[in-house]
Amino acid sequence: MDAVIYAGSHRKGGNTDRAAELLARGIREAGGTPVIKTVREAIILPCLACGFCDDASDYEGPERCVLGHNDQAWSLFEPLFTARTVLFASPIYFYHLPSMLKTWIDRGQQFWRAWNDQEPWMADLPARTAHAVLVAGRPSGDKLFEGARLTLSYFVRNFNLTLAEPLGVMGVDHPGDLVRKNGFENEILEMGRRAWTEVS
Ligand SMILES: Cc1cc2nc3c(=O)[nH]c(=O)nc-3n(C[C@H](O)[C@H](O)[C@H](O)COP(=O)(O)O)c2cc1C
Repeated sequence: MDAVIYAGSHRKGGNTDRAAELLARGIREAGGTPVIKTVREAIILPCLACGFCDDASDYEGPERCVLGHNDQAWSLFEPLFTARTVLFASPIYFYHLPSMLKTWIDRGQQFWRAWNDQEPWMADLPARTAHAVLVAGRPSGDKLFEGARLTLSYFVRNFNLTLAEPLGVMGVDHPGDLVRKNGFENEILEMGRRAWTEVS
């Protein structure tokens, strides 16, 4: 896999899915092979905050979570280790990421622990850049994207990814609004192309 795009909306066929398709098209146009991972299609159990991942002496390698492979969280995590570039498309729900995407991100606590412990399978990952498109219904708002930006940036950091400044699109509410927003489709396509060419 060359590039992974995580699509975070609970709504099928909405603005986020459109943004994810545009990112994928941009990557393909630049010569990459994108895979879209639609988070709502995966069954993800919430982090239990049980502390199992705190103590590295209990296990070896990347299996630091007590929930193991009981759900599909790992099928979404795997590309973060192997992809050359990582992208997110997500709506804003109550000034933040949607709960299904956030539930999966919380399961990443195990990787924060592993990164902190400088486990070689985390610490030796190559430095890469992550990108994000965030869509929101409100037409304005100073801090509309701030919660999502911070969460994504601290989540991907554990995989040696640095989140570039996200592209925030406001005033996009009903399915199809993104298509009607002048210029943004081209900006998203260009983000996909750039995400690929910057690693080539
Ligand atoms: C539960 C929920 C909460 C939302 N909260 C916000 C919000 O805080 N700010 C905002 O601008 N839009 C908010 N919206 C609107 C969505 O961000 C907007 O409709 C977006 O285009 C949805 O993307 P989608 O078409 O990919 O589902 C919310 C929508 C839902 C369903």
